[in-house]
Amino acid sequence: MFIKKLLKKIDTLARREISFGKILIGTVLITILTVASVIVARMIIVPSFTAANNDYRYQWHRVANQQEWKDFKVKYQGSNYCNNCHNEQYKKITESLHSKIQCENCHGAAIDHPDNPQRLAIDKSRELCLRCHSYLAYRPLEYKELEKKTIRLKMIKPDEHFPDENMQCISCHDPHKADFK
Ligand code: HEC
Ligand code: HEC
Ligand code: HEC
Ligand code: HEC
Repeated sequence: MFIKKLLKKIDTLARREISFGKILIGTVLITILTVASVIVARMIIVPSFTAANNDYRYQWHRVANQQEWKDFKVKYQGSNYCNNCHNEQYKKITESLHSKIQCENCHGAAIDHPDNPQRLAIDKSRELCLRCHSYLAYRPLEYKELEKKTIRLKMIKPDEHFPDENMQCISCHDPHKADFK
């Protein structure tokens, strides 16, 4: 019904002669309305932004993003925390070549441990160690640390270094000593 009526109206309008002036005013009005509605929509949809110390060159960010980061849950504790309860492993590793490696690098995030989970995972796979110790032809074996110390990485070739499927790296090496058992 409504569509029929509308079509009829358009038809009679089309038959009537509409002056150029009216069309022009109509066009201008529609343009103004469109621009105005876009501006209003933008004010509602686009979030507000801010910058640190009112210096817009740096850290230009969404205001709501501050709260989002405050709500973001930290996952890692850092090795010092583990020292409270696992002193034996902590002492061993800090005196070893693995001293710079965080416990959680191998055992996973521990923010709520020992409540949840009660025990952290113990990954005994070769893959755990090969992540860092696998020889890669394109990676240099020596790094200069701040031009002072040279770090030598001892890499093994996984398919040559005791590649027995059932042989874990920790069958022979102690992960906390970075040496033999
Ligand atoms: C407040 C004391 C406490 C702190 C701090 C703590 N743990 Fe534990 N952890 C425990 C307890 C208790 C267990 C369970 C031991 C058990 O049941 O034999 C455990 C178990 C583990 C296990 C499993 C041991 C096993 O034999 O199955 C690992 C691995 C572990 N913790 C690593 C860590 C690491 C890494 C950190 C630091 C990020 C850490 N823990 C911090 C108390 C702690
Ligand atoms: C390079 C990887 C690696 C790092 C770093 C590491 N662990 Fe482990 N951790 C292991 C592996 C692998 C085992 C299993 C050893 C085994 O069964 O012989 C293990 C076992 C353990 C256990 C079970 C008891 C034991 O000694 O076997 C605890 C507790 C533990 N780690 C705590 C820690 C803490 C605390 C740190 C940091 C101070 C740490 N680990 C750092 C790989 C690692
Ligand atoms: C996050 C990286 C990382 C992981 C994972 C890791 N290592 Fe290491 N490892 C190192 C670094 C770094 C060193 C010290 C530099 C070096 O001597 O190669 C080292 C040193 C060692 C050394 C002594 C090499 C030497 O110079 O005599 C042994 C053995 C070793 N790791 C065994 C293991 C074993 C076994 C595992 C698995 C349980 C493991 N590593 C996991 C990074 C890693
Ligand atoms: C059967 C025992 C055994 C197993 C299993 C084993 N290794 Fe070894 N690893 C050795 C011996 C022995 C050496 C020293 C002689 C050599 O370089 O081959 C060594 C040396 C290393 C070194 C020092 C390399 C160097 O240039 O001095 C690293 C790093 C290492 N192993 C990592 C690993 C990793 C990672 C795994 C598991 C993928 C692993 N090992 C499995 C016995 C073992």
